[in-house]
Amino acid sequence: MKVTLIGTGYVGLVTGACLADVGNDVLCFDVDARKIAMLEGGEIPIYEPGLREIVRANAAAGRLTFTTDAKQATRHGRIQMIAVGTPPGEDGSADLSHVLAAARNIAEHMDAPKIVVDKSTVPVGTADKVRAAIAEGLKKRGADIAFSVVSNPEFLKEGAAVEDFMRPDRIVVGADDPVAVTALRELYGPFQRSHDRLQVMDVRSAELTKYAANAMLATRISFMNELALLAERLGADIEHVRIGIGSDPRIGYHFLYPGTGYGGSCFPKDVTALLRTAQEHGLDLKVVGAVEEANERQKGVLVDKVLKKFGSDLAGRKFALWGLAFKPNTDDMREAPSLVIIERLLKAGATVTAFDPVAMEEAEKTYKSESGITFAGTAMQATQGADALLIATEWKAFRSPDFDALKASLKSPVIFDGRNLYEPAVVRSKGFEYYPIGR
Ligand code: UDX
Repeated sequence: MKVTLIGTGYVGLVTGACLADVGNDVLCFDVDARKIAMLEGGEIPIYEPGLREIVRANAAAGRLTFTTDAKQATRHGRIQMIAVGTPPGEDGSADLSHVLAAARNIAEHMDAPKIVVDKSTVPVGTADKVRAAIAEGLKKRGADIAFSVVSNPEFLKEGAAVEDFMRPDRIVVGADDPVAVTALRELYGPFQRSHDRLQVMDVRSAELTKYAANAMLATRISFMNELALLAERLGADIEHVRIGIGSDPRIGYHFLYPGTGYGGSCFPKDVTALLRTAQEHGLDLKVVGAVEEANERQKGVLVDKVLKKFGSDLAGRKFALWGLAFKPNTDDMREAPSLVIIERLLKAGATVTAFDPVAMEEAEKTYKSESGITFAGTAMQATQGADALLIATEWKAFRSPDFDALKASLKSPVIFDGRNLYEPAVVRSKGFEYYPIGR
């Protein structure tokens, strides 16, 4: 099938590359000429395991092409997938300007019937706005061409996006047009395994499903983070509690890990946007509001422990930080707890030396002119002469460090672990003062 992807960010590029990989003829459009030039040269603007390989292979096979030409993009695919950003606006509601600009482009250039697919995470009611924008654009041209608008949210985890796309646990399609449903069923056919994973529903339910999924996952995390705080007060171990409750199949083990708060491009933005949507409809979501509040508090927990140990004035102190990305296997630092940790340490007068296996370039861009923060070439180098080590991301490479070398490198053997990477008794027996979360 001929498919156009509008937007070559995480979602658009992964979707385009995976659809090409099963034989579709995919054209990826972006307004950012620099990005398109990079992609044409086989360079991938983001770090995502496996993505570079499938982009290069499918580009070489001629199934994956790139353009900045809106007309060419519109004419190419019967299926037009909108996968542009929906950044939070000033009030936290999703900014739809890129989505609606894409819709207007389609209306301006379409010369045959189109199935327009909203892939971006967009508030309930957006499909109606996209439909209205296209209808208005066509009317302006005096054109009468059939189109339908479908909601098809993605459920891709960064760091595992290609795998998630190739082996989806569900494919949600919100559509009221049976022709569009048939087309999407065909498009996603190669990704079906063992049973039908395509769930067809009305457009608004599909739009809400995406927010409901992310808010539910965020709720589990905030709940566990809150219980971790309580466990500390009570002298209980949250790790035992996690295993204790996770064994109930109604609860399950996934997404029960306490830490330094959830970050990334999805959870914080989507939780806020869901709250705003509800407010716009006169509803105050109590649980979701508390999830957000708890997460804000949690991002400060690790530094609170530092201040408790070293006092509120950290002038002259140096801290090593392992992990900058919001989670492992990505270079994404959006809403990462590390940002809050660094800001608070610097504000209290300390200096920070950070290391991350892949997010260093991203971090250097973020902290270009900031004084007080430096970056080390290796994890161990970051710890040299530091008053303590803080861990913000659970990269595999941090899980089993040479503790003797670490102890020799640090000025004092103190670890604040925001990801519970180590067994407290073991690290303490090696002579470290160890501050995990909820243990
Ligand atoms: C998420 C959803 O998982 C995905 O389905 C959706 O499409 C986009 O948002 P992503 O943002 O890539 O994906 O990251 P995810 O792996 O879900 O982690 C989100 C945050 O929660 C991270 O900051 C992570 O560290 C944190 N987290 C996750 C915890 O603190 N504890 C957990 O148990 C799980």
